[in-house]
Amino acid sequence: MKSLIIGITGASGSIYAKNFIINSLKYGIDLHIVASPMGEAVFAHEMEQSLDDFLQNLSGNFKKYQNNDMFAPIASGSFKTDGMVVIPCSMKTLACISSGLSDSLLQRAADVSLKERRKLILVLRESPLSIIHIRNMLAVSESGAIVLPASPGFYHKPQTIESLADFISGKIFDLLGIEHDLSTSWKGIDKY
Ligand SMILES: Cc1cc2nc3c(=O)[nH]c(=O)nc-3n(C[C@H](O)[C@H](O)[C@H](O)COP(=O)(O)O)c2cc1C
Repeated sequence: MKSLIIGITGASGSIYAKNFIINSLKYGIDLHIVASPMGEAVFAHEMEQSLDDFLQNLSGNFKKYQNNDMFAPIASGSFKTDGMVVIPCSMKTLACISSGLSDSLLQRAADVSLKERRKLILVLRESPLSIIHIRNMLAVSESGAIVLPASPGFYHKPQTIESLADFISGKIFDLLGIEHDLSTSWKGIDKY
């Protein structure tokens, strides 16, 4: 049984969070979920449903924490998990993580993941990128985080938006060493 922290921020791409949560629960992963206020707001806007309403209809092992609850277990390194995924991750939260700012539970949990040398995957979304964004990506990468742009491939010929989100979820599971049945890998063409 794996357990993961999921952070949801106010970047566009709430569908990636939704898809990753559904698939993680399907694979029996324990989830500790925390969202920033803008994460909740953008989720409600893009999904036309609040994050809480979405979670209420799910079955599986998960708990959602308040972002201002610094007493939550995920604020401490002694609470062991298999990693953290920030999905989607805004440039603001990237900047906070890269500078070691822990002003919220989400940021603190990311900071803890880095200090404990646990996997931290940041599913960033912004376009175009400023030099500040790129510098912050370099800084978090140097500290051990993995930058995974919300940039799905098209070689598996996706026909639905859901399959684009599946692609990103599959890439994250690959990095976490979690078996999955989502289409992510290039199988080559007939010639080979
Ligand atoms: C509809 C909407 C879409 C947004 N999309 C992005 C985005 O793709 N990337 C980004 O970095 N910020 C985006 N933002 C801005 C962030 O929400 C804003 O910077 C916020 O302060 C992020 O806070 P958080 O990281 O604590 O969630 C968006 C805002 C709105 C309202």
